[in-house]
Amino acid sequence: MPSHMESLKRLGLRSPVIQAPMAGGGDTAALVAAVNEAGGLGFVGAAYLSDAQISERALDIRNRTALPFGINLFAPTPAPGPAPMMSDALARVAPFHAELGLADPVAPSHVGDGFDRQFAALLDSGATYYSVTFGLPPAESVSAAKARGMRVLGTATTVAEAVALEQAGVDAVIAQGSEAGGHRGSFIGDPWKDRGANLVGTMALVPQVADAVGIPVIASGGIMDGRGIAAALALGATAVQMGTVFLTSDEAGIPEAHKAAILSAREDQTRITRAFSGRPARGIVNRFMETVEDPAAPDAVLPFPLQNTLTRPLRTAAGKAGRAEFLSLWAGQGLRLAQRRPAAELVAELLRRTEAVRRQLGG
Ligand SMILES: Cc1cc2nc3c(=O)[nH]c(=O)nc-3n(C[C@H](O)[C@H](O)[C@H](O)COP(=O)(O)O)c2cc1C
Repeated sequence: MPSHMESLKRLGLRSPVIQAPMAGGGDTAALVAAVNEAGGLGFVGAAYLSDAQISERALDIRNRTALPFGINLFAPTPAPGPAPMMSDALARVAPFHAELGLADPVAPSHVGDGFDRQFAALLDSGATYYSVTFGLPPAESVSAAKARGMRVLGTATTVAEAVALEQAGVDAVIAQGSEAGGHRGSFIGDPWKDRGANLVGTMALVPQVADAVGIPVIASGGIMDGRGIAAALALGATAVQMGTVFLTSDEAGIPEAHKAAILSAREDQTRITRAFSGRPARGIVNRFMETVEDPAAPDAVLPFPLQNTLTRPLRTAAGKAGRAEFLSLWAGQGLRLAQRRPAAELVAELLRRTEAVRRQLGG
């Protein structure tokens, strides 16, 4: 088995700390650059960006740091099935529009996911890492990225997904446990089976994935400090991908109401919901989530990405108005450990504490 240093080197990483891509505005160029300059690896979640916006963001990062960074995309979405009935979903969202003074919600329509154009921009962006979630990276994208010298990473929530990613040629697999904030990366089987009761936590997932694949594993979900990082390394991970801990950093681009919600919530106040996007994702329970997610009316939530398009105007307006009860308050279960501070300070402390814990355990 390669040593931890060898696995890090194999991935071109300077340290085990990776700042998770966080599509939707959390991962600003300022955050990515601050993480890089402090010794971690910064990532951009570009799934909701156009090709032009991806190029712009990459340039902004390049103007702030010469160090390697990553760009993440959602794997292409399969062709949509027949258009679902939308009246229930519109009716659920309408009262919230009224409360915020917005016009009635409009039925969302399918537009292509734009993956090809996004990927073309990613290839020319100067990024060193290309990662995907929600599926396998298309074979041509893996070969094109590797031909440019990029490292390719994929997200798995089960051993079967990790094995499929390895077979697809990725350089490392991100093992995302059920504690994780934001969307589940699941792509084999029904991620909403049993309404999430079958999801596997990071502690159980990482060693099982590490045993099943021959490529490095990156642990993700609920890791918030040096103790969590040292634990992930002990379980067989080479690095960790952390989201929630960076959301309350000064540089994160989410609304202040979202940061405040993370800083005041308890570990048992998050839940996995489809209410905001149609795909399961973990966030702090709020009024919108409780009202829209109704086990008795599963059709009241449209499939991804339609529900995401439907709720976007509401979420944007709620962000501007500072109304946390209508925002998708993505956060993982480790949120009680979140602190408000500059990202550079956070990364420095993560690296220092990881070493301290490793020394303590080793001695
Ligand atoms: C606000 C937010 C947005 C996220 N967006 C993405 C994304 O665009 N792509 C992705 O691969 N993962 C995304 N994730 C998941 C992270 O990659 C990671 O798995 C998760 O944050 C780890 O759990 P933690 O939040 O407990 O650290 C997101 C997570 C959060 C909290």
